[in-house]
Amino acid sequence: MLFEKKTTWLKLFESLTAANNRVALGRVTTIEVGRKKVCVAHTSEGFFAVNDRCPHNGASLGNGFCTDQGSVVCPVHRYHFDLKTGRAKSGLGDFVQTYPIEVREDGVFIGFEKIVFNLF
Ligand code: FES
Repeated sequence: MLFEKKTTWLKLFESLTAANNRVALGRVTTIEVGRKKVCVAHTSEGFFAVNDRCPHNGASLGNGFCTDQGSVVCPVHRYHFDLKTGRAKSGLGDFVQTYPIEVREDGVFIGFEKIVFNLF
């Protein structure tokens, strides 16, 4: 296969307790991971991560809030983005990049996917 999807996992938090302390239930925050800024949300379904930059006009989604319906809400114009799919609600065409999060024994990790060209 010429193109392969690879996921690089980076540690966001040392433990689930550290994650809960940093991002309380019902809150969002911005965290820098590598060279990316991600918005981490903590809902009743767990932790979610999306790109921090709002696709509408560039505001920091980490300054917004999350809803019980699983959306992050931009603080500027209040667009809602689904935390699982990244799609904007209300029929808008915008979407935000989502990133998988895994809770493991040795910490909470975020995955960054990329497509790799592999000739051999
Ligand atoms: S900048 Fe986010 S909705 Fe406008």
